[in-house]
Amino acid sequence: MYSENKFFIEDVPCENKLIALRCDLNVPLQNGCVQDETRIKESLQTIRYLQEQKARTFIISHLGRPKGKIQDELRLRPVAERLSEILGTQVMYASDCVGEDAKAKIASLQKGDIALLENVRFHREEIQNDPSFSKKLSHGADYFVNDAFGTAHREHCSNCGITRFVPLSLMGYLIRKETLALEKISQNPRHPFAVICGGVKISDKIDLIESLTRSADQILIGGAMAFTFLRAKNIQTGNSLVEEDKVEIAKNLLAKAKEKILLPLDLMVSSFLDLHSSSSSPKISIPLQLISLDIQAVPDGYYAVDIGPKTIAKYQAILSKAKTIFWNGPMGIFEIAEASQGTFATASMIAKLMDKNDIYSVIGGGDSAAAITQSGFKDKVSHVSTGGGASLEFLNQADLPALSLLSSKEASYQTTGRL
Ligand code: 3PG
Repeated sequence: MYSENKFFIEDVPCENKLIALRCDLNVPLQNGCVQDETRIKESLQTIRYLQEQKARTFIISHLGRPKGKIQDELRLRPVAERLSEILGTQVMYASDCVGEDAKAKIASLQKGDIALLENVRFHREEIQNDPSFSKKLSHGADYFVNDAFGTAHREHCSNCGITRFVPLSLMGYLIRKETLALEKISQNPRHPFAVICGGVKISDKIDLIESLTRSADQILIGGAMAFTFLRAKNIQTGNSLVEEDKVEIAKNLLAKAKEKILLPLDLMVSSFLDLHSSSSSPKISIPLQLISLDIQAVPDGYYAVDIGPKTIAKYQAILSKAKTIFWNGPMGIFEIAEASQGTFATASMIAKLMDKNDIYSVIGGGDSAAAITQSGFKDKVSHVSTGGGASLEFLNQADLPALSLLSSKEASYQTTGRL
């Protein structure tokens, strides 16, 4: 197992040590309020452990993609406030991450104290993995603890570069939980192994689909990416979103794994779709129409927005026989109630099967994690990953840049003769 060879937070004494802790506190904010606390809550075990061990901890995180510029709406102060409320102790907030305020707050840390530094992506050096910024960000810490699974597929200062400037880099509880859960999927999954793959872009998931065709028994396709596959089979998709430059790749994937890749049998279509409507969610025309793809193609002027009932039934029949299920990506535009049936039916299907059968199920972060949470079934599934992109890349490569840089016990044994 991957995590067994990496130093874990419990492997070293932390009392009075200065700890640089990388968390993924990239949570949605609206008017200064945290909208979804999942990532804060998932970080608590490591934070509480460090408090109990009387470490002096400063947390590093990003929020959004400010592209190296200060953006007031992406400041981490509301997150520090919410974290203080949840922990029941004051979390200090530093208004910068390498400047005077950060240095002062870190210098004032007493045993068991926690400080949260300002959004690390306000500095463009962060995403350039710049060595001198990495050094500044380490603030002379005794240990670096990485618990930001959601960003482990990025090569940035706060999760990769920083490891060069601290004596030891350790795995936190969340990263260990995530790697153990995903390894159950990537290494010898129990069969039948069914993958549900949706979302907008086939280009984001081609590598994953390709590598999963080796281990999965069925890959059930939904969401907008299905239309690129349908086009590859010369099925008319009307005005639906198709990645024209990926049609050839979709054709090749179908040629290689025709029996494994399943496409929708029917679709819900709308005569109007505005993905960038001025209100926060997309707009479609309602009521929707149902298209059965064996009888009819999606007519010109129509947009497919969800999978239909025949597809849901077919996918349910396949999932009911599965022993392992991995789901990444919604089946339709689930932000709109009328186009959310496919996505929520998938969430409830998995939850019901978990009640009846002995199944291992993992939800791969992002929109599908939001869907399972909104549907109230989060606690039914075996694991919901906090990382969308990170969970996909981990399944593809069985490693991630930020994980590979954590201190390895084997290397330490070879150098020091002890673990
Ligand atoms: C996420 O939201 O998936 C993580 O926080 C990573 O964010 P990023 O895609 O902006 O690097």
